[in-house]
Amino acid sequence: MITEKHLKRFREVRTPFYFYDMDLLERTIEIVKKESARYGFNVHYAIKANANPVILKRIVSLGFGSDCVSGNEILRSLECGFPGHKIAFAGVGKSDNEILTGLKSDIFSFNVESLPELEVIDQLAGKEKKVARVALRINPNVEAFTHKYITTGIEESKFGINMWDLQPIIDFLGSAKNISLTGLHFHIGSQVKRFTPFKALCIKINEIQEWFNNRNIFPGHINVGGGLGIDYENPDVLPDFSGYFSLFDELLELRKGQQVHFELGRSLVGQAGSLITKVLYIKNGLQSDFVIVDAGMTDLIRPALYQAYHKIENLTSINTENSRYNIVGPICESTDSFGKFIELPETQRGDLLAIRSAGAYGEVMISNYNLRDKPGLVYSDKI
Ligand code: LLP
Repeated sequence: MITEKHLKRFREVRTPFYFYDMDLLERTIEIVKKESARYGFNVHYAIKANANPVILKRIVSLGFGSDCVSGNEILRSLECGFPGHKIAFAGVGKSDNEILTGLKSDIFSFNVESLPELEVIDQLAGKEKKVARVALRINPNVEAFTHKYITTGIEESKFGINMWDLQPIIDFLGSAKNISLTGLHFHIGSQVKRFTPFKALCIKINEIQEWFNNRNIFPGHINVGGGLGIDYENPDVLPDFSGYFSLFDELLELRKGQQVHFELGRSLVGQAGSLITKVLYIKNGLQSDFVIVDAGMTDLIRPALYQAYHKIENLTSINTENSRYNIVGPICESTDSFGKFIELPETQRGDLLAIRSAGAYGEVMISNYNLRDKPGLVYSDKI
């Protein structure tokens, strides 16, 4: 929650900046820990959502693993205290160097997305005299009902291995000397708001397990990926972690001793961050006036890239009258907009706005297009 004390500090700091509510982060990760522990589930935090070391150190302190999609994310995880044996590494295009980083760090699993990738991992592991632990990332062909840019588990997507491509992979694994098949991995997409797609995923996983068992293959773990959505309309509300984990407990048909792993990103950090920006100008517009703020798509790209909604609040206006505004940034692109026809109290130059639910895929996706400065960082517990 943003309090008077925070606001006082906000007025002194250069805008725009990310504000992290560390109490809310703490509360969120504690709930995730408690609800996942009920079933003995393992959670890897998907560090692509927010790789800020201050945030990572908080998350690692509760014993979570990490989920990485680049060699640098593996290195960042290690620097922040995630042990190698709790690091999962996914991605369709792992470079040789990144694979070597994973091998040297003895990671929990390479989540492998194709036969050629598997062949390279086998070769490199042989050279390093290591045995790589591998989970096959399988495309379950489950519709996630989310934005198409963040749908990953349907047949035409570049991610995962389609069922009809599995047999040659199984044949190769039979002769690969430097690979141990330890699990099966799935991920259907991100910002999945309803539970139905996760239910469909469980049913698919059960079928796919049968396929493997019929070939005498018994993977030790099932990694169901991430994707649990947050409520962008209600930034103070946390996801239903209890319902989410219990669903997997209820529906997954596990084999004896089989472990379940999750890769949650957005749901752990999303509600803990806001982008704070200052109003530069109010400009007449055709249907509604423009509020021109000093943050742009370089600081938070989600609205421009996915037409994403983020709730916007005026933190400083004392006006009781409301107006509708188009809230835009200073970048030379028409997509540089944070929202159209947004109702705010009468707003003026110098007001501070909070763009909420920006803790996930906010700071990590900043760019310096237009040679913009990076936004600042403010943490609630350092005020
Ligand atoms: N596991 C894999 C293999 C993934 O690709 C992702 C996200 C996750 C886990 C974590 O998903 P989450 O729990 O955060 O939904 N930039 C986009 C989101 C891209 C998600 C990419 N993969 C956005 O701003 O909405």
